[in-house]
Parts: sequence; C-alpha cells; structure tokens
Amino acid sequence: MSESSTREKNRGTKDHAESERSGRKSVDSAASDAGTVDQRLEGLPHIEAFGHRYHASGKIFFPSDRAERERNEIQHRLFRLCLDGELTATRLPRDVGRIADLGTGTGVWAVEMAARYPQARIVGVDVYPMQRRKGVPPNVRFAVADVEDAWDGFAAADASLDFVHARGLAGGVRDWPALLRRARAKLRPGGLFEMTEIHMQVFDFDGKFAETEAFPGFLQLFRDLGARVGMEFNPSPLALDWLIDADFEKIVQRSEILPLGTWAGDEKLQARQALMNKIIADHLDNHCGLLFTKCGLDKADFEKKIPPLWEELRRLDKRPYITAIFTTARKPRE
Ligand SMILES: C[S@@+](CC[C@H](N)C(=O)[O-])C[C@H]1O[C@@H](n2cnc3c(N)ncnc32)[C@H](O)[C@@H]1O
Repeated sequence: MSESSTREKNRGTKDHAESERSGRKSVDSAASDAGTVDQRLEGLPHIEAFGHRYHASGKIFFPSDRAERERNEIQHRLFRLCLDGELTATRLPRDVGRIADLGTGTGVWAVEMAARYPQARIVGVDVYPMQRRKGVPPNVRFAVADVEDAWDGFAAADASLDFVHARGLAGGVRDWPALLRRARAKLRPGGLFEMTEIHMQVFDFDGKFAETEAFPGFLQLFRDLGARVGMEFNPSPLALDWLIDADFEKIVQRSEILPLGTWAGDEKLQARQALMNKIIADHLDNHCGLLFTKCGLDKADFEKKIPPLWEELRRLDKRPYITAIFTTARKPRE
C-alpha cells in the first residue's frame, strides 16, 4: 500500500464529506430497509428488557431493535461530524485492500467506506443480522459472528487484513486485550487499527460540574453496573496500555468534544450538540435495559433518574461535554 492519501480527490467522497460537515444526512437511513431487517431478527431467541430486544447470550448490552438501529445511524453522523466528514481518523492509503468492521451494526460505516474505497473488500461483522440490504455495494459483505470467537467466518487467515475498524463496541466485549491481540494477528505487517468509543466522563470548561451532579452521577452508575456484570463500558483510557501490550506501534488518541445541553455557540459544535441531545432524549434507555435488569433495577428506577438529567442540561450556567475518542495504531512492519 502506498502512503499517499488522495481521499479528497475522490469526487463521491467529497460530496459525502461536504454534506456531513454541514450536518445534513448523506445516506438513506436504515429505516428504509426496516421491514427486511425486522423479518431477519423476528425468529431469533432474545432477551427482552425495557421493551428492547437483546441478544440471547445475555453478554451484548446493545439491543437489535429499530430504536437502536436509529441510534446507530445518528451516532454515525455524530462521529463523521467529529471527523469533519471523514470516515476514519486513520490516514488510509487510497488502495487499501481488505477491511474488517467489527460490530458493524446497521453496516452504515461499511457501506459508506465501500463507496469511498471502491477497490477495498469490506466485511462487516455483528452478532445481529441487522445490516442494511438495500444499497449495499458489491465490495461489502456482512457476517454474523461474535468477534470474541474465532474469526474463521470472515478473516480466517492471519496477516490477511489491511485495516481493522472497531467502533462503539464497548458493551459487547468482555476481553479487550484478547480482541486487540487477535486484531494484530489478523493484520498484515504495517496494517492499521482504529477503535472509537464515547468516553464516559463529563467535563466542563468552568470546573463547576461536580461528580455528584446528575449527569456525571448517571455515567458513574452506568460504569459501576458495568463493573458488576464484568463489562468495561469505558475502554479508551485503557486502550493505550492494551495496544502497547499487544505490540502495536504509532498509537495515537484523538479526543473530540460532544457538547451536552444548550451552550454550544460554534456551528460545528451545535451540530454535534443537536445529535447528542437527540440520543439522550430518545435513546438513553437502549443500553440500560439489559444492564439495569441484570443488576436488579427496573424501568421505574431508570425513569426516576431522567428528569434531573434534563434539568441539569437545560441550565445555562454550565458548559458540560463528553468526548469521543478515536484511537489509531499500526502493526509493526517487521
Ligand atoms: C453501538 S453499535 C455500533 C455499530 C457500528 N460499529 C457503528 O459505529 O455504526 C455496536 C454494535 O456492535 C455489536 N457488537 C457488540 N459486541 C459484539 C461482539 N462481541 N461481536 C459482534 N458484534 C458485537 C452490537 O451488536 C452492535 O450492533
């Protein structure tokens, strides 16, 4: 692969990037495909909690239903806004070949990557068969598998991948170091790795936001419940050590502000803030159903926590934000 980056010269790509920068939607949402997706999920065994459908294994804290697919697509737009319309924080060579997208969700990233890199062969992997069927380019395929199991169904040979992408997987991975070691083994020498997660901690510019307030308190509860069920919901701070231990190099973390509430003045931050507010308003329970239920808390316990969050976020004297962390690394060339 050559290191020359010519992404901006790709016309289709530029159009996508342009619409994402302005906050407009660049692709049809998975909603247009919802009927087909629902039929595929229909007969599958599942666990129900807070009105959401979770994987029967009980180890995946993401549901598969329409609400989560909608959240998936909103979050995709949010990450693209953070990357100024790009799809990766990694500088990929234009002739990038084999790509695996771990926990592909609706497959929106894989589909857009395929349009951007028509010569690439992309496999999107997920425990749920909930990927789009319409408008999927021929260089994308989807596989149903747990990425913590063997990768035989999608990347059987070691040293066969050019790029491994893992975004929003926290909530479905019990053993991150093992996953990263496997990613390294599957990458060819010089192959690239990227993981992206929301960092589950509230910051603010004025130092006024105490950990005891509603939003930080809610995230703390979420992390504590995660610890009780053996799930690390906030892997980014630990990822640096894991990647070093797995023998990656060129490890870089990029942090992007996601404003909460109503304070953002800058147009770019306002666009992120609007999407964050939508996720909090419509989808906060998506990832809480199974977690809370497993820890003996019910929907009423969850609902009691929401009004103080909104009260807090509506206050104009504070400027809270969380962050999205993009972590990139390379397998040594040897
Ligand atoms: C938050 S969504 C992100 C989807 C996609 N990566 C994106 O950013 O648009 C997380 C997805 O990862 C999947 N997932 C979580 N843990 C997984 C695992 N161990 N194996 C396969 N898929 C997993 C979930 O089913 C869910 O669809």
